[in-house]
Parts: sequence; C-alpha cells; structure tokens
Amino acid sequence: MGKGSGFGKVILFNEHFVVYGIPAIASAIEMETTASVEQIPGGKLEVIDDRKATPGYKDDKKSQQAESIQNILRAAGVADRQSLRIVLGGNLIAASGVGASAASCVAIARALNEEFSLKLTDEKINSIAFEGEKGYHGEPSGLDNTVSTFGGLIRFEKGAQQQMAHMSIQNPIEIVMGDSGLVTNTKAAVDGVRQRREQNPKKFEDIFKRAEQLADKARDAVELNRASDIGRYMNENHRLLQEIGVSCDKLDFMVTLARRAGAAGAKLTGGGLGGYMVALTPGKDKQNRVAEALEKEGFRVLRTKIGVEPRHVA
Ligand code: PMV
Repeated sequence: MGKGSGFGKVILFNEHFVVYGIPAIASAIEMETTASVEQIPGGKLEVIDDRKATPGYKDDKKSQQAESIQNILRAAGVADRQSLRIVLGGNLIAASGVGASAASCVAIARALNEEFSLKLTDEKINSIAFEGEKGYHGEPSGLDNTVSTFGGLIRFEKGAQQQMAHMSIQNPIEIVMGDSGLVTNTKAAVDGVRQRREQNPKKFEDIFKRAEQLADKARDAVELNRASDIGRYMNENHRLLQEIGVSCDKLDFMVTLARRAGAAGAKLTGGGLGGYMVALTPGKDKQNRVAEALEKEGFRVLRTKIGVEPRHVA
C-alpha cells in the first residue's frame, strides 16, 4: 500500500487576481488530507472518502473528483492501473476554501508515487496535482497545489513559468477560519469574474491595479512580521474581492463579526461565494475570542496558524 499527504491552505492575499498573473500570498495550515493507494483485484477503481466534510460537499464534487483522479493517473503515467482502492482521510475538512481539492490531489499523487515506486520529485508531484486540480477548477492558477505540495508560506505568481517564492515570517501567527457552510463552485466563481471583467474593463483595470499594489505591501508586512499591517491589508483585499463580486452576505457578516471581536483583519478566502473566511488573530486569547464570536452565531471554525514549518503527518 502506498501512502501520501497534502497540506491544507489558506489564501491570505489575491485569490482570483492570481488567475490574471497578479501575485498571491498563501500559507499551508496545520491540517492535511491523507491518501492510501492499494492494488485490488477486479479491474475497478474504488474511492473511499473518509474525510470529514461540510454537508453536501462530497456529493457536489463527486463527478469532479472522478475526473480529477483520472487526470492524476494519466499525469503520473499509470492510467492503465485502474484496479485500485483509494482511501482519503486526514484532519483537513473537505470544504470549499481550505484547499481540500488540492490537498487530495497531492496526497493521491504521493501515494501513487509510493505504491508504484515512481521516484517522483516534489516538482513532479506538484505538476501531477495541478492536472488533478483541473478536474475541479477547469483552469486553476496553480497556487493551491503549490502550497499543498511544498507547505510553508508562499508568494505565487502565475506566468509562462509559474513562480513560487518561499517566504519567512519570524513567528507563526494564529488565524481563525470560519466555514460559511455554503459549498462553492470555484470554476463558476472564476467564470463570473471573467464575465464581469469583460463587461466592465475600466472598472476592473483599476481594481486589478490596486490588487497588484497590495501584493507588494502585503509581502513586506509579512516579511517584517507586522501583524497589524497584514490585517489591515487583508481588510483591503476583502474590499477588492467584494468589488469583483465574489463575496456574499454570509461571508461579509462573518468578516464583520470577526473584526468586531478583535481580529487584526478578516477576509474571504479561496473561491468565495461561500466556503471559508479567514481572520488574523495574533495570540491565543484573540484567536479564542474571534472563534467564539463566530461559533456563537453557529459557524464552524478552525483554529490554526500561518507560517508554520511544513511537517507531514502521513
Ligand atoms: O476555492 P479554492 O480554495 O480552491 O481557491 C481558489 C483560488 C482561485 O484563485 C479563486 C482560483 C485559482 O485557480 O487560483
């Protein structure tokens, strides 16, 4: 049996804008999806998905998952090996906005690598996971699978050659991630931005310029470990995401709630229109206060950190 895992992630800056070549910043979180791959008789591919999930997520993503797994098998050069049992697990919830799809692609690629002794480098694992992500996203930027493969804090820029730079932060910072409970279709969210951009080129040009400027300011704030600036820029980023139409009432409500409870900053994270939001909450006390404020309104939360050194559980 081959085993592998992939990190969950949080996008701190510039989801969506990253699709158009604007730099984004994301961090792995201390939660992972694990996969095992086992060869079984009978010529059938069996997928057992034991991940904890937002209600509706797994059913919603079933056909995308099937397409993704076939992409992964093809990219790994083992498309003829269909007599397999793939089991997914780990402590990362299967939900929109935490990198669940990318983490599962990386985990499966790593498990295939082990089962079939493919001797794949991390770069190759990442490129296989990118093909897997296409099953979910259509045309992903490559950000999610990169963070999920390499872990840590990453600045990512899509281009002819996808560029990744590891960033460091002096001390990991606590965050709270809040689940809106709404399952998102990232592809639909990305398509929506494209349509609105085509309809309002001037408005979008201005917003995109501001997102680009924010990327540089945010990088400096992260590298200088200035939590209050990082939070302020997250708030600005949320405003830009609202302007391109990927927030929703529930996410806006959660973001406001987190700020009122003392968060240094808060924004939606990932594809938007549902899924998760993230609040920067330096220190355990602040983290608990913000988490409790969200929980009191019935939202499920994750308490984790950004900037933690990558460490695999599987
Ligand atoms: O919804 P998630 O967590 O898979 O994040 C999607 C990020 C986008 O920028 C919206 C799309 C992409 O391909 O980068």
